[in-house]
Amino acid sequence: MTRIAVLASGRGSNLQAIIDSIENGYLKAKICVVVSDIGDAYALERARKHGINSFHVDPKGFGSKDLYEEEILRILKNNNVQLILLAGYMKILGKTLLTAYKNRILNIHPALLPAFPGLHAQEQAFRYGVKVAGCTVHFVDEELDCGPIILQKCVEVKEDDTDQTLAERILEQEHKIYPEAVKLFVENKLRLEGRKVKIIK
Ligand code: GRF
Repeated sequence: MTRIAVLASGRGSNLQAIIDSIENGYLKAKICVVVSDIGDAYALERARKHGINSFHVDPKGFGSKDLYEEEILRILKNNNVQLILLAGYMKILGKTLLTAYKNRILNIHPALLPAFPGLHAQEQAFRYGVKVAGCTVHFVDEELDCGPIILQKCVEVKEDDTDQTLAERILEQEHKIYPEAVKLFVENKLRLEGRKVKIIK
């Protein structure tokens, strides 16, 4: 069974979606550890509620990003982690984690990449006036929100939407496609071909 670490900085609803998918048998994998850079992130609480090891690693306690990530890496290695999921993790990954887990780190982004990378993607899309918004699960590489795309889901923008209502409907789809993408990964159905991800049926 694939051993997963989830890195999260906030409320952890995507973490919850992965936990639920494992508990209901959809996903054959194990979350062995949840790590957060934020001490009171609700994601840590969710992990505890489900008996998952959780760690707060405070970046301020380290002299550099490398040292901070080396501490995370130590935790991941201790737990024999094979796959890292970023789920609302608000720090840009550095070379320590990217090198150690090359092509084994996934992220969920609340926009149809490559449109609207970075922060507040749903609001960016809404303000831009798009008619179709959505979310993306992708491999993580050196560039922010830029790695090869695994799955995307569209969400139509309604006439009476606000950025909030739109973000809520996007989030519902995030909770579906993240477990789906993780399932494809753990079942070894993803093949990276340059920028493209082939899904093997
Ligand atoms: C989600 O919208 C995700 O796409 C983005 O950050 C948000 C995290 O939400 N990367 P949650 O903490 O999983 O509820």
